Amino acid sequence: MAKSFAASAPGRVNLIGEHTDYNGGMVLPAALSVSLRLGLTPREDRQLVLKSTEYTKPVTRHLTDVAQAVWSDAALGAIREAIALGMLTGGANITVSSAIPVGAGLSSSAALIVAVLKAARSVSNAAWTDVELALAARRVENDFLGVPCGIMDQMAVALAKPGAAMALDTKTLKYRLLPLPASHQLVVLHSGISRQLNEGRYASRKQECDIAKAHFGTQDLCLLDPEMIKTSDLAQPARSRALHCATEHARVLAAADALEAGAMKQLGSLMNESHASMRDLFDISLPKIDALVADAVAMGAIGARLTGGGFGGCIVALVDNSLREDWLAQLLAKHPSAQFIDAARGSR
Ligand code: GLA
Repeated sequence: MAKSFAASAPGRVNLIGEHTDYNGGMVLPAALSVSLRLGLTPREDRQLVLKSTEYTKPVTRHLTDVAQAVWSDAALGAIREAIALGMLTGGANITVSSAIPVGAGLSSSAALIVAVLKAARSVSNAAWTDVELALAARRVENDFLGVPCGIMDQMAVALAKPGAAMALDTKTLKYRLLPLPASHQLVVLHSGISRQLNEGRYASRKQECDIAKAHFGTQDLCLLDPEMIKTSDLAQPARSRALHCATEHARVLAAADALEAGAMKQLGSLMNESHASMRDLFDISLPKIDALVADAVAMGAIGARLTGGGFGGCIVALVDNSLREDWLAQLLAKHPSAQFIDAARGSR
């Protein structure tokens, strides 16, 4: 029987730093314990046969197929990229088992692509680094799937490990792993509203950022002085979008410091400010999510915010361990369509 090559990748939650990863700024994602595992067996022909424990019927795709807005596209794009990098010479049989919810803003697609690339790397014994695989995974999203995302998700699922947050500079790809505290949890709740990054609203925010970039003559909106943006004559909504990027970047730097210092109150306040900025300046929240975030805080979380690309998906809330059980029960009783997904926490 042909040999199967195993690989896995975790889901990720971004603690703070939204829409900064294509504007030259910092992000602070953390790996979740929910993850995706797969086994890959190379084939000699040019077919991809994909099985998932969630779907009973295997999907067969030809390697020359174009993306069709279906879940197998991500694996197909990854196989094509693996061939372009010399890791594979033909198709593959892949069996996937994933606990990462799809359309929740937890990087299920990045995890699938990165895991396929990691398995393909073991097939060829090639020396590609995890950072190079993350860049390759982003090419699959941008060029094959038509999702104009930044680099955060791919870097997080390729390199982050549960128990630590990754303070990542998306301009240089330098990062520091910061241990999470064991005294608190970063609880991830699905709002009950699903969304897709290729549906247009993510792209329209990116286009508004492009208008601001052209106006200020820089790729790095995050590095601009917020006061200068505020008083500039850049038309709305691009001015507000740029202001979000610059202030959000500063909040990530402060949040990384707060996490290192164990200053949970400070971290929570920054999460609350980040949510307000996503709601008021970047306009990617929804009233139902604002209500969930507000109640999370009113019921005892130190801070809470929408996480991921926006327009649905998950929130993340910073909660003291001793309060978590009651807090969660109370919050879910008031928001029955919300759902507990996972909690990121440290061990010390
Ligand atoms: C999605 C994208 C990321 C990032 C976030 C917003 O998750 O894939 O690149 O832009 O949205 O922070």
